[in-house]
Amino acid sequence: MLYQQYPLFLIGFMGSGKSTLGRHLARELGWTFIDLDDFIETRENASITRLFAAHGENGFREMERRALAEVVKMQKVVVATGGGTPCFFNNMELMNRAGTTLYLQLSPAALVRRLLPGQAHRPLIADKTPDELLQFITQKLKEREPWYQQAKITADAELLSPEAYVHILKEAL
Ligand code: S3P
Repeated sequence: MLYQQYPLFLIGFMGSGKSTLGRHLARELGWTFIDLDDFIETRENASITRLFAAHGENGFREMERRALAEVVKMQKVVVATGGGTPCFFNNMELMNRAGTTLYLQLSPAALVRRLLPGQAHRPLIADKTPDELLQFITQKLKEREPWYQQAKITADAELLSPEAYVHILKEAL
């Protein structure tokens, strides 16, 4: 049932719309919205960019793992995860055990279009030209798909409106 209390995790590449959709779904359900990056920033009292600079990606992934371990215990939450969250440690398994996982799937070209405007705020892509960005996304997506594909539900993020997602979730859960 949709109105069960277990968390709903939105997963997918940077720029796939996890936070926007997450806010909408949480409002629809009357649940709490958690953006995992914001949760980490509040915990660590620093921006993601600073955390990457100070502790490297490995340090950040440890913080992300700790944050996720807290969030999986919560009830009635919609969680927008970071693009890399499912691909480290046993994070994907943890989310699948704790609740529902929804993968917002997009093509590399669509991701480039969405990511170019706010690129400076994302440390993994901040310095890339549009061509480099397309190359990076194509490669990274290939590496990450095996984890993303473990989601309980996969949805084409290009086609669907937030209202359509609500419908899909009601059917699926
Ligand atoms: C990352 C995605 C970011 C953030 C960090 C690393 C990634 O989250 O966690 O910059 O590895 O794809 P968003 O997907 O919310 O941008």
